[in-house]
Amino acid sequence: MIIKKAERLRGEIRVPGDKSISHRGVMLGSIAEGTTLLTGFLNGADCISTMECFREMGVEIKQEGEEVQVRGAGLRGLRKPGRVLDAGNSGTTMRILSGILSGQPFEAVLDGDASLRKRPMKRIIDPLTEMGADICSEGGFAPLRIRGGELHGIAYESPAASAQVKSSILLAGLYAEGETRVKEPFLSRNHTELMLRAFGADCMSEGNTACLRPGRSLHGISIRVPGDISSAAYFLGAGLLVPDSEVVIKEVGINPTRSGILDVLKRMKAEISVENTHETAGEMAADLIVRSSSLVGTKIGGEEIPRLIDELPLIAVLAAVAEGQTVIRDAAELKVKESDRIALTVGMLKDMGAVAYATEDGMVIEGSGSLCGARIRTDKDHRIAMSAAVAGLIAEGETEICDPECVRISYPGFFDTLEGLKH
Ligand code: S3P
Repeated sequence: MIIKKAERLRGEIRVPGDKSISHRGVMLGSIAEGTTLLTGFLNGADCISTMECFREMGVEIKQEGEEVQVRGAGLRGLRKPGRVLDAGNSGTTMRILSGILSGQPFEAVLDGDASLRKRPMKRIIDPLTEMGADICSEGGFAPLRIRGGELHGIAYESPAASAQVKSSILLAGLYAEGETRVKEPFLSRNHTELMLRAFGADCMSEGNTACLRPGRSLHGISIRVPGDISSAAYFLGAGLLVPDSEVVIKEVGINPTRSGILDVLKRMKAEISVENTHETAGEMAADLIVRSSSLVGTKIGGEEIPRLIDELPLIAVLAAVAEGQTVIRDAAELKVKESDRIALTVGMLKDMGAVAYATEDGMVIEGSGSLCGARIRTDKDHRIAMSAAVAGLIAEGETEICDPECVRISYPGFFDTLEGLKH
């Protein structure tokens, strides 16, 4: 895929549904009683992996584009899968589904693609084992063989702020005897807690601790999935960098545990307005309007990191064009995402002529105001590919993105939407 310098971007778009909420809608819908209807569902490869796993366990799921109907099997209604459950490229599928499988009276094997097989699973194996599950793996990596057991609730102090870990433990807690608590160093995205409540579960949150008391059954609901702020981020970035631009992004989820990018962009002096704020199934959504802006560097770290972890490669691109230095700290997690996002982001920026270097837990970028086209390695990581596309819009010459089809993981129509804004 070749990206050329754009003159200006104008228009109104919708981005696909939130990935985290789409996964959770299928998962909770599958173990609820009655029907769950998801509209605005993300029809991307990761969420399709989740759907396929539940179909393999006997759940009837009908999908027509962005509309999904799940006929819940109830908490105890899943069937032993006839084959290996394939999570594909999706860490969310593997980690959260492991929690549900830990409570089942059967054995299942969960596997994934080459990237997922390299991602750490000990972070869920340890607490789920402590709850009573029997999980075999080779060195803490997929494939995972999970034999569900009689679980008991635990009070877990998570070493990392990870929504996947928290969600996995909370969903196992639905099957456990007694209460399950998860405390995080910082609050990670709370879609699971919000959705569990909406389905009727006894789930409470206080500060950085979430608590689940078992005993109630879940009941299917209708969910309108808001647009994914992690996907909207590329268009916020593109609208800011390309001169003479104005882009309206309709109905984007702005849950405060996800909207760290808006705070960072404000500090970078971006002109973004948030309009028509409203609530949909316990989640906040709004229209975002972005105009070209001259950005300045900033410092990002601490509690802000889990609120924008997936947006950091894109933020790094913006930092390379901003005035002054940007420092990203406390983000070592980036090394174990779909790719090593610290190495690939710094590599991309350097190849495009920027001054950037990796640190132990993040990166430092010296804003230079301009970039030049290059051939960008993505390691099939969707977020690296889309960040590179934004950089390509303002780079001198052509930018070639390797393996561009990887955007199908979270945003199948990304390049078409981008093209449609060029006027
Ligand atoms: C996700 C949580 C985040 C995020 C991932 C989706 C989720 O990962 O990076 O893209 O849906 O729970 P961690 O919870 O591991 O930080």
